[in-house]
Amino acid sequence: MLFPVSTGGAVFGIGYYQLSQQKKQQELSFHQPVMVDEVLSWLSTNRNGVYLDLTVGGGGHARALLQRFSRYGKLLGMDQDDEALTACAENLRPWKNQVVLKHANFKYLADFLAEEKVEKVNGILLDLGVSSHQLNVGYRGFSFINEGPLDMRMDRRQKQGAYHVVNTYSESELRHVIWEYGEERRAGAIAKAIVRTRGRRKIDSTAALAAVVAKVVHRGHLNKSLARVFQSLRIEVNWELENLRLALQAGIDHLDPGGRMAVFSYHSLEDRLVKRFFRENEKRCTCPPEFPQCICGQKGILKILTRHPVTAGEAEVRKNPRARSAKLRVAERL
Ligand SMILES: C[S@@+](CC[C@H](N)C(=O)[O-])C[C@H]1O[C@@H](n2cnc3c(N)ncnc32)[C@H](O)[C@@H]1O
Repeated sequence: MLFPVSTGGAVFGIGYYQLSQQKKQQELSFHQPVMVDEVLSWLSTNRNGVYLDLTVGGGGHARALLQRFSRYGKLLGMDQDDEALTACAENLRPWKNQVVLKHANFKYLADFLAEEKVEKVNGILLDLGVSSHQLNVGYRGFSFINEGPLDMRMDRRQKQGAYHVVNTYSESELRHVIWEYGEERRAGAIAKAIVRTRGRRKIDSTAALAAVVAKVVHRGHLNKSLARVFQSLRIEVNWELENLRLALQAGIDHLDPGGRMAVFSYHSLEDRLVKRFFRENEKRCTCPPEFPQCICGQKGILKILTRHPVTAGEAEVRKNPRARSAKLRVAERL
């Protein structure tokens, strides 16, 4: 038994297994965590505390937190990607008695805490988006750079992936997804080209979709447009913004006073959502601004600790290009 991995309420051991040297190497490079020092300094305020890593991924941030903890500190990790949890379990094996991993969407964090008989936690980390592993392996279908099936499901138990969106959504639904979640100017032309192409033959791979986009986007803008189209489909397939809203709310409901929530976002839609959520919970008063004093009695429950998002330094961006778009916002529960 390695250490408890709980899934759908049950707890099972994933067992020891020998990793080949090659596999070990792959797992070490599963994901390079961003801004680890910043996470430690903003989030790790109690060495004996209980921390919830809602996007535990390969366990890079979790490992750094565990190194900081005393032997009484506890880390609860969630991820909806089974491959992430396998890599994470291996990475966190030295702390097996202090860690519980859960294979679930982070919107179900309250259920996980109830299963673990934890009411409040001292810190919550959300490192949104995809892991390097998800992007780098073609078979997950997240990237236009690596050929693979049109999938993009973070949770592979989910029925429908990007193939379903691309091949069954109406033209106006596709335009909406690409425009809203990708902020892509050519959304209309791309949606039209998708519908025209799939009338002849289903679009079933990342390369086939990239070829359709290439037909209607200027070559000079192609990579940026492809990144936006793929991002928009990923957000739609995984209901990313809805799930984030639910997790932020459930998260602050389970934060101990003085406990902190740290969120990394990687694109403006996520960052805007997090910024607004923090603001709304800092000032919950609904009195008109002209009132000399509050009469609604609704008190804020968060204190924003980062007025502006914290970003990575140049040296880190050089080593880890993914850090370039990372924005960290932190708030404290009152
Ligand atoms: C950027 S990676 C996290 C990397 C991690 N911080 C580390 O140090 O290795 C994001 C992870 O969040 C997971 N994820 C994204 N949305 C999720 C959700 N709604 N519920 C659970 N996990 C989610 C992804 O599967 C992915 O493994």
